[in-house]
Amino acid sequence: MVTNSRFIRACRGEPHDTVPVWFMRQAGRYQPTYRALRSRYRMLDLARSPNLIRDVTISPVRELGVDAAILFSDIMIPLTAMGVNFDIQENVGPVVFEPIRGGADVRRLSRFVPELVDYVFEGVRLSVAALEDVPLIGFSGAPFTLASYLVEGGPSRTYRWTKDLLWNDRSAFDALLEGLAEMVVQYLTLQAKAGASALQIFDSWVGALSAEDYREAVWPVMCRIFAKLQPLNMPLIYFGVGTQHLLEDMGSTGATVIGVDWRIPMAHARKLLGPQLALMGNLDPQRLVSGRAATRAGAHLIMKSMQNDTRYIFNLGHGVPKETDPAVLKDLVRWIHAWGRQGDDGE
Ligand code: CP3
Repeated sequence: MVTNSRFIRACRGEPHDTVPVWFMRQAGRYQPTYRALRSRYRMLDLARSPNLIRDVTISPVRELGVDAAILFSDIMIPLTAMGVNFDIQENVGPVVFEPIRGGADVRRLSRFVPELVDYVFEGVRLSVAALEDVPLIGFSGAPFTLASYLVEGGPSRTYRWTKDLLWNDRSAFDALLEGLAEMVVQYLTLQAKAGASALQIFDSWVGALSAEDYREAVWPVMCRIFAKLQPLNMPLIYFGVGTQHLLEDMGSTGATVIGVDWRIPMAHARKLLGPQLALMGNLDPQRLVSGRAATRAGAHLIMKSMQNDTRYIFNLGHGVPKETDPAVLKDLVRWIHAWGRQGDDGE
């Protein structure tokens, strides 16, 4: 476990030399090196090979100079160890072949068998060895976001079937989230034992819920997960998209770092969440596609509003778009580091 890095120190609110920065989806199709690999392997084949997991995981650290690596994998991977059949389709996302639509389908899910995804933990070990003093972030999808793929069968805008299950078959909904929560705890604990230094839970689509539904049906599950992870004594990051109306509740789950999307000013998130939590975010990822000037202008606003905040980590409000020019990202990392050291425009 790496503890003396600026990323981990910022997560804990300890003094550090400059603002740490990493990016969600920092490994992916915007990288020429990743596209070259993808011309030879399918995404899921990459994610099942420990050596390739390592190579892809460490590549943004080498190419961009970011302060943390995130395990290269996908939120769907551990579901293979619960008996779920799915594919990841380019420009679509995960597609589940037999969606879960009721209690009988939920009972069809097996308990999580970690041995079936040993390649993930081996990928963590190999990545950690190659990264030396750069921390590795392990991750999992959150129960609600995973359930949304399992129930809808793929990406959705309305979450028709997931909400239907919540409102019309609550015991099946609860059983599904509970089974997934048990997996999340085991899966993240094993990533930590394999050498990860921080853990992130992606609840990307939880913003689709009303504040009341979140509080009642999802928040208690998240509280139980974070309580079980707390003994690992490492930063626990909780991230979702479109979560303005949920932030305060997300902040009281036991997570120690909250990932904020780009719609809400970072300083406003700080007011809502109070001084104790670390915050991570929140540049509109689309700025990257619009080039260096648009990227720096957005970053400037965020850095100005967060200067002197010792529990702040720069990131995007969501993942790196595939149309991003790597040079823009590389420039951004240098610029954030320089600003964090000197204030103002850095250079
Ligand atoms: O952040 C990182 O760099 C780590 C790697 C990572 C991937 N997926 C790699 C990936 C992480 C953390 C994820 C998590 C993930 N996967 C989430 C939560 C984070 C988020 O983005 O909200 C979600 C919702 C998924 C589901 C998923 N998998 C989607 C929507 C897609 C994109 C489909 C597409 O082609 O646009 C994937 C595939 C995926 N996961 C890719 C990568 C690099 C692209 C695969 C490829 O074609 O090579």
